[in-house]
Amino acid sequence: MAKLKLITFGCQANEADSEKIAGVLAQEGFELTETAEEADLILINTCSIREKAEQKVYSLLGTFQKLKIQNPRMKIGLCGCLAQREGVRLKDRFPYLDLLAGPGAMIYRIPEMLRGAPAPPVLPRPQEPLPLYIRSPRPRRESPFKAWVSIMEGCNYLCTFCVVPYTRGPERSRPPEDILAEVEELLKQGYKELTLLGQTVNAYGKNLKPRTRFSDLLRAIDALVGRNMRVRFTSSHPRDLTPDLIEVMARLRSVCEHLHLPVQAGSDRVLARMRRLYTRQQYLEKVAMLRQTVPDIALSTDLIVGFPGESEEDFQETLSLLRQVRYDSIFAFKYSVRPLTPATTYPDQVSGEAKTERIHTVLQLQDEIALEKNRERVGKIEEVLIEGGPNPKMHSVATGRTRRNQLVHFSQESLVPGDTVSAVITEGYSHYLKAKIP
Ligand code: 5AD
Repeated sequence: MAKLKLITFGCQANEADSEKIAGVLAQEGFELTETAEEADLILINTCSIREKAEQKVYSLLGTFQKLKIQNPRMKIGLCGCLAQREGVRLKDRFPYLDLLAGPGAMIYRIPEMLRGAPAPPVLPRPQEPLPLYIRSPRPRRESPFKAWVSIMEGCNYLCTFCVVPYTRGPERSRPPEDILAEVEELLKQGYKELTLLGQTVNAYGKNLKPRTRFSDLLRAIDALVGRNMRVRFTSSHPRDLTPDLIEVMARLRSVCEHLHLPVQAGSDRVLARMRRLYTRQQYLEKVAMLRQTVPDIALSTDLIVGFPGESEEDFQETLSLLRQVRYDSIFAFKYSVRPLTPATTYPDQVSGEAKTERIHTVLQLQDEIALEKNRERVGKIEEVLIEGGPNPKMHSVATGRTRRNQLVHFSQESLVPGDTVSAVITEGYSHYLKAKIP
């Protein structure tokens, strides 16, 4: 059997895409290997969201070029968002590249490219409808109990910092029947948790005929999976957090009590320049409605520090928003200049030192908030899906996640990955909880 070394960068959508790539290539007789030296094909599934992810790809390409010199039969390819954005220009820079493919639907064309179909002079724009699951090779999933389910591709928002609309194209939703067929199969295979994926997952269905709301899809999935599966979804845009969605989150047993709701910044001036299409107040009102309707819901968010023109005062507003919302966890990023995006041309870029200082301040504040919140959880009983085996560094014998998506370490019981248990929280830290079986 031919051997495939597959390396994945970036978001959950990329992890899901890699499972699709592995599935497509399994049909072509490839099995996965960890070792680059023994691979017949090395594919890097790239990310373009921040500069750091790109630099890692370029340095890996340098390493693999050396392998290819020793073994000229080895093929090297790039797929994903960096490949889409840079396209054939990459071939000028890295002439030994054998294959280039974008994210999404282009994955299904990798086999014909490998068989020597001439490479297109430019990568097609990622706007074709999504391939139907019922007709596509099955993804090769990494976990036997947790599954990604892509429900839409692309994004119709044009946030001024973000490259995604240019790499993943405009919003396209999968027909609900196709999604339900995938969920039904996962249920039969004994999966315990699924995460619905989309760049703006809660904008799902706007371009479908008849129009299907995201809340309708959740209802249909819940009717199918009942108490047998947990359902999560990510990422949500605050604009599309509608009352009907909040309502179903409260009502449906399968839908977990957690929402990732990227805010990006706390200052109205910055939000407007980011083109986020909401104000701080509007965001806070949605959070209030959510907390009123879904008691004890956990919230997480994404933040960018050092967006062009962010003053010290603006930054203080991000800190005050953190204190006000009290998120359970956050992802914070330094603003990164991205080709094709409007904010790249803004003249008032923030210095590297200011970004570094601000990200430290944000993360420190969040650690304090999360520590307080997690200590308050001690004594509560939570449903935990066991995910991993022992972690000697943490002195834990098993790890899992609560419905609120918090990481839990167990130090006494031996628990089997894939099992769902009822656990009592015994300790709270900034980034995890400890628990035992009562
Ligand atoms: N610089 C820094 N962070 C970014 N993100 C998106 N674009 C950029 C950028 N140019 C962050 C946002 C988004 C997350 C996936 O990545 O916070 O929500």
